[in-house]
Amino acid sequence: MQNSLFENIQLNDFRQPPLQQCSVVCSTVNNTELLLSQPNESVNMIYSDILYGTGRNFGEYEDLKPIRIDIESHYLPRLIEMKRVLKQNGCIYLQMDTRINHWMRILMDEVFGYDNFRNEISWCYNSQGKTTKQWNKKHDVILYYTKSEDFIFNSDIVKDSISDLTYRRFQKEIDKYGYYTVLKNGKRTQYTLADGSLPKDWFEDITYISRDNKELTGYPTQKPKELIKRFVLASTNEGDTVADYYLGSGTTAVVCQELNRNFIGCDINEKAIELTKSRLLDGR
Ligand SMILES: C[S@@+](CC[C@H](N)C(=O)[O-])C[C@H]1O[C@@H](n2cnc3c(N)ncnc32)[C@H](O)[C@@H]1O
Repeated sequence: MQNSLFENIQLNDFRQPPLQQCSVVCSTVNNTELLLSQPNESVNMIYSDILYGTGRNFGEYEDLKPIRIDIESHYLPRLIEMKRVLKQNGCIYLQMDTRINHWMRILMDEVFGYDNFRNEISWCYNSQGKTTKQWNKKHDVILYYTKSEDFIFNSDIVKDSISDLTYRRFQKEIDKYGYYTVLKNGKRTQYTLADGSLPKDWFEDITYISRDNKELTGYPTQKPKELIKRFVLASTNEGDTVADYYLGSGTTAVVCQELNRNFIGCDINEKAIELTKSRLLDGR
């Protein structure tokens, strides 16, 4: 690896008492450069909130245009490298919206294999901007693929709370400790509210970062820590390595610092890396 890539930040967080001390490494480079410098099978999980193809200039960065050939020529070589750096039991989560998710899914099928497609997750939110002319577009899509059939999924850690429907159905039977009994095929099984329910591929319990949210950094398209935390908790264990190649304000790096995962990532924009550095130092 070239040292110059990693000069920007090398943080070891000794403030918390982690089981293992994890490193957080971020640099201002084009992601192709970082990817090409990484060894094969060195990363457990990739999460990236990619360029959505809006064609917009966000001030801090310019998005790609929603032109299929441009999207494919940007992502295909990067996806091939991302697969190479993933460990055999690793996985990738790419976040986007509905402008390019159909093209991205075809590309990811090609690179990771149709059989390694696991989920298309919907993150539903209620942001500003409403229309009466069509259905309001209020969800992002996260495409989740694994490198092989052998992968980690900590479903117990990311389980959902029980649904409103289940709660209403058993409300009368729930005792003061939260226990209730379900009768199915003549067999009675006891549950508690704390058991929750198995995780689903749509989330509506994580809100968009509003103006009064203390997480807000002012960097365009910043994502909530809670969202990325859910993926990191589901697909890695402490001490594993997570990568983000479109880092922005550094949300993934901060999450990894909090969850005691090693992190490596980059952004082409120097201001993004400066902001990431200050968030890591402040632990926010
Ligand atoms: C959607 S934003 C990420 C926002 C981030 N999830 C957050 O919470 O702040 C995408 C980022 O990718 C960066 N980017 C665009 N092209 C890049 C490239 N070729 N290499 C590295 N970073 C790139 C942009 O500068 C931008 O900060």
